[in-house]
Amino acid sequence: MRSVTKPVVKPACGNFSSGPCAKRPGYDVSALQLDTLGRSHRSALGKAVLGKVCSQTAELLGLPDGYRVGVVPASDTGAFEMAMWSMLGPRPVDVFYWESFGEGWSSDIAKQLRLRDVRTFSAPYGELPDLSQANPAHDIIFTWNGTTSGVKVPNGDWISAEREGLTFCDATSAIFAMDLPWEKLDVVTYSWQKVLGGEGAHGMLILSPRAVERLESYTPPWPLPKIFRMTKGGKLLEEIFTGSTINTPSMLCVADYLDALDWVESIGGVAETIARSGHNLAVLQGWVEQRDDVHFLAKLPEQRSNTSVCLTLDLPEAQLKSLVKLLEAEAVAFDIGAYRDAPAGLRIWCGATVESEDLQKLLPWLDWGIAKVSGEAV
Ligand SMILES: Cc1ncc(COP(=O)(O)O)c(C=O)c1O
Repeated sequence: MRSVTKPVVKPACGNFSSGPCAKRPGYDVSALQLDTLGRSHRSALGKAVLGKVCSQTAELLGLPDGYRVGVVPASDTGAFEMAMWSMLGPRPVDVFYWESFGEGWSSDIAKQLRLRDVRTFSAPYGELPDLSQANPAHDIIFTWNGTTSGVKVPNGDWISAEREGLTFCDATSAIFAMDLPWEKLDVVTYSWQKVLGGEGAHGMLILSPRAVERLESYTPPWPLPKIFRMTKGGKLLEEIFTGSTINTPSMLCVADYLDALDWVESIGGVAETIARSGHNLAVLQGWVEQRDDVHFLAKLPEQRSNTSVCLTLDLPEAQLKSLVKLLEAEAVAFDIGAYRDAPAGLRIWCGATVESEDLQKLLPWLDWGIAKVSGEAV
């Protein structure tokens, strides 16, 4: 099965990074709608375009009535931090984490917000903590897809529909590629540069009506910087969720995001982006099944991420590093080394913007590269 002769055909696009991720198929920067550039984001034109970001996102995602979508500063981190800083405190908090980013939220809750009434459930790379421990009376913090471990939450069955607390879900490497149970999610954040292949810049914050209720009924005891503030006089600043951003956004990045949304719409919506990502995972899965020296870091198949696919290889770390460098030098795969805090291995992005034919073309190169760094190929 193993091809140790050097392959000839390369992927048309070798961008398999887990963020920023590959641009959508057919992307052409000159096709962006750029009439907003050089104009005020608060002009009628600017507001209309930013408003469209919110409304088109809600429509494509099929958000329930009453859910708000806003563009906020500082990418996914900005969105998640502003949510935690604005809403945590009145209830005990259950934090679930199993990789680097979730651990970061956990650490900020303990060391920055210094909340006391916190239960932390964690698991090593490759596993999920016991989600059934979630107490519906508590606020719940978790990441839907652990980008650095390739372990995702398989569903929302563990979240109570009758919960009193709020669920805070960092969905940055899941949204548009995984089915999210909106009614079970109160605060959802993401950034543009993952599944949609957009530009890194702004965060997206989705709030359920119950999250809005929390914002309007609770004032945290700590100071909030202006870029975190979502209320005034105890009322939600609704305009943040209709296109009046807190501060100045990049309208170039906004145009790029709208291009990505139009692409999603043109291919058949979120069902199709989810399907594309699923096919991509299936391509890698077929390859892993053929090799006894390559393994998913995620232990259970239903928890395997279909976006950030993390693999371990029976290779010494130095050879793994050489493999990543070799594939980059051959211009067949860029940025596919495991995240710095994760176990050594490969992380190959399989989000919707990646073409499955490119993954197919990558496989013989992976076979060849492994043989080459092991001294078995020419
Ligand atoms: C799960 C998760 N959370 C947060 C972040 C940080 O996102 P950003 O750089 O958009 O702030 C990332 C980035 O990869 C991520 O994967």
